[in-house]
Amino acid sequence: MRKKIVAGNWKCNTNLQEGIELAKAVDAVVASEGADDVVVVLGTPFTHLTKVVESVNTERIGVSAQNCAAEAKGAFTGEVSAEMVKSTGAEYVILGHSERREYYGETSETLNKKLALTLENGLTPIYCCGEPLEIREAETQNEFVKKQLEETIFTLSPDDFKKLIIAYEPIWAIGTGKTATSEQAQEIHAFIRSTIAEKFGEEIAEGVSILYGGSCKPSNAKELFANKDVDGGLIGGASLKAEDFLGIINGF
Ligand code: G3P
Repeated sequence: MRKKIVAGNWKCNTNLQEGIELAKAVDAVVASEGADDVVVVLGTPFTHLTKVVESVNTERIGVSAQNCAAEAKGAFTGEVSAEMVKSTGAEYVILGHSERREYYGETSETLNKKLALTLENGLTPIYCCGEPLEIREAETQNEFVKKQLEETIFTLSPDDFKKLIIAYEPIWAIGTGKTATSEQAQEIHAFIRSTIAEKFGEEIAEGVSILYGGSCKPSNAKELFANKDVDGGLIGGASLKAEDFLGIINGF
């Protein structure tokens, strides 16, 4: 049975003290009211990782970086390696987010290096894919997303692929308040899963969690998560308030 997962992506928000307070608030509400069978992850800035790990019950809440270096170590000023992320106690790394692709020029080649280093260091990649508005309007989103997967995570071995979490995030829904409809989400999640089955077989396809991201809120989480192939969410804005984040977790 694949995991139900709700992961927060705090992006470039909260200073260290605010982040610690948010993590403690999420930990408290999940402990008292959260669904026991949901894996909860907090994707924090690099600067917060160690303190957030210390601030939550890591039996119940995982911690994630939002990126990592494409090199293992060396003269790459400002970069943070997968090994460094691992050393903080974090267990996950969000990779391939559309904002990194768009603003920082991440390519499939870069992402393949990051995937390899993330896996080599025993971290779980939360691997993002998703189309821009013009692709959705042209109704070629399936081809677009399939290409993204074929150039990166489909180059992994079956054993490594099984370790992944996938997040489908239509770019036109990120931060816009324009969420994909339940039908749109189910349709492309089912397509992603069928594409995985073609490549790796039914068993692996049925075992991978595919999260939805893009204006997921407490008001729409229940409908989105009720879909057979939607296994949870990767949450931006709504992850910055503990009560909203809990409302999404309880959407299952
Ligand atoms: O990675 C999750 C994020 O891109 C979604 O953002 O604010 O639309 O939930 P938001």
